[in-house]
Amino acid sequence: MPVAYEPHRRLWLLTGPSTSYAVRLAADDGVRHVHWGVPITLDQAAELADRDERTPHPAASSFEHGVGPEELPAEGGPRFGPAALQVRFADGARAVEWRHTGAHVEENSLRIDLADRHYPLAVALHYRLAGDVVERWTAVTNHGTTGITVLRCDSAAWTVPARSRHRLSHLVGAWSSEFRLQRADLPTAETVLTSRRGVTSHHANPWLAIDDGTAGEEHGEVFSAALAWSGSWRITVHRDPSGRAGFTGGFGHEGLTWTLAPGETLETPAFAGLHTMSGFGAASRSWHLYVRDEILPEAQETRPVLYNSWEATGFDVDEAGQLALAARAAGLGAELFVMDDGWFGARTSERAGLGDWTPNPHRFPRGLAPLAAEVRRLGMRFGLWLEPEMVNPDSDLYRAHPDWVLHMPHRRRTEMRHQLVLNLGRPDVAAWTHRWLDALVGDLGLDFLKWDANRPFTEAGWPGHPDPDRVHLAHTRAVYQIMDRLRADHPGLRIESCAGGGGRADLGILRRTDQVWPSDNTDAADRIAIQHGFGQLFPARVMGAWVTDSPNVTTGRVVPLRFRFHVAMAGVLGLGGDLTAWTAEELKEAAGLVAAYKLVRPVVQQGAAYRLSGGGTLTGVHYALGDDHVILAWCPSRPYGHTPGPLRLAAVDPVGVYRDLDTAATHSGAALLTQGLPLDLPAGDHASALVRLKLVKE
Ligand code: DGJ
Repeated sequence: MPVAYEPHRRLWLLTGPSTSYAVRLAADDGVRHVHWGVPITLDQAAELADRDERTPHPAASSFEHGVGPEELPAEGGPRFGPAALQVRFADGARAVEWRHTGAHVEENSLRIDLADRHYPLAVALHYRLAGDVVERWTAVTNHGTTGITVLRCDSAAWTVPARSRHRLSHLVGAWSSEFRLQRADLPTAETVLTSRRGVTSHHANPWLAIDDGTAGEEHGEVFSAALAWSGSWRITVHRDPSGRAGFTGGFGHEGLTWTLAPGETLETPAFAGLHTMSGFGAASRSWHLYVRDEILPEAQETRPVLYNSWEATGFDVDEAGQLALAARAAGLGAELFVMDDGWFGARTSERAGLGDWTPNPHRFPRGLAPLAAEVRRLGMRFGLWLEPEMVNPDSDLYRAHPDWVLHMPHRRRTEMRHQLVLNLGRPDVAAWTHRWLDALVGDLGLDFLKWDANRPFTEAGWPGHPDPDRVHLAHTRAVYQIMDRLRADHPGLRIESCAGGGGRADLGILRRTDQVWPSDNTDAADRIAIQHGFGQLFPARVMGAWVTDSPNVTTGRVVPLRFRFHVAMAGVLGLGGDLTAWTAEELKEAAGLVAAYKLVRPVVQQGAAYRLSGGGTLTGVHYALGDDHVILAWCPSRPYGHTPGPLRLAAVDPVGVYRDLDTAATHSGAALLTQGLPLDLPAGDHASALVRLKLVKE
């Protein structure tokens, strides 16, 4: 029974394979946090609940008076930490006072129903166990006859045990340097992780992990959480001087308000959390399983090797040029050909044409059907780049509908990349967007969309709408609905989430997409860190990774082809360079490496990932699936010419024997665990290795 109840204490216990989560109703009907961690029994949960009941809040001094850890701390009463729920009623009252109205338990889910003691506000706290992941979300309903202003409505507040030290891991970045992992002591303060950009953002990602400062890749207690939302979001992490810590998060950012109309329910996205005693690596593997089993629409499918034209042709696309690339890509073993930006309207640069989604008649006088047919004749699937949420002011669409964009009266319309954001919250704009997408996908039988979004929101208003900040919710939901509808009506369609690189990667978008473009930075040396951060939450099978030209277009770095491939092979391999300029030797080597990727692809895309570090700059990833093991190792530089140490593996059986499928050498599991895997790395910088091991004897 995943959800147990103890009526005397009004205590619920949710238990997954290796995690328990317990909450109780306090005397004031508030929902208190009891436990998040290792599995416990209902008796043990009762002991913890009693301990909390005896804890003196109110404390000795009036200044220390408090309420104790709550599951959704609302503003009001002696609560001085970050509020997860802030509302204002029509008469100006802001606080919420709880009244428990019921609870509903289903096999692996729990809903606790609450209401305000006086005002017609109902609040439901939802819990759902998915393996060891606890999904939590909130629904607020206005049962009155006047509007209720919602200033903050988080999905959930999470409490971690008091410790003498807490450490916060999170992801920071910018365009071209997304997903860089930061790990530092949590200050005794409130720390806000947020996006005010209308998309998930390059700069912060709604994922975090907390440990006590001692966890490592394969040991130690880690609490981690991720929000399933692709618009603006906010997570407030806090730690007080007595060592109590937690975090609360949800959609929206500070300053936004929504008016809950009479009869209306506002439901938040899910905020998922997990706990492990086995380090950051185990936390990531649990996330990867969760993404595979609970989030991705087609998780068992093998992701194809794609070719994308962007770095080869930029905006200069035409039928002949794309066909030349397609022929080369097919020759290398690509399975999906994606034509990027520049194929439509007057889109010959970033200055014009966005919004006019018909093929450019000078570049594609016969339309796109002949290109699609030739790509398929070459044995590849066909996909297109699109940016459905955006418009260039220099476009027929904008000239016809200047009111369709996000804007505010008497305010400038800030252009970024010469474009504005369409307000997909408007039903007419969303319907128009769905219509042209549906027709395009249907007419060409498109297999793949690269759905891009190259600028954040500014002037996010909705003139004429009674509750204009709604645009933050309505726009993101419309994106979800359009994608969902396209997928339902075109079952073969697959979608890549892109927002000027990795600006939209989260558990919300992944429910309706198949892979993510993590960064426009395709420099393999930089990409190692980007992929390291990305993989904290996301599995390899959603991580698009292209091999592009050298010197790299963004960084100018010169990197050998083999190293570029070995880094990209850690995810969903793609090709993105100007293949017409590659030499015969490069093409031959590339074809061999694509073939090698296809051999290891099942293990990379479906296996369990173990991050490795060999000292110095040597790092790698070990993927394990059944008896098959794939190790990718990268040594971007070799200071002082020192030889990097062997990579110690974690996911091998000490009494097993492993054969290297390429050299036939054998290694005992004990040697791999203790001494490590000897790597035959070439001398010099940018050395890399791909090793395939098979367990041959247990
Ligand atoms: C940003 C994307 O990240 C690139 O890969 C490319 O598609 C461009 N947009 C096209 O404008």
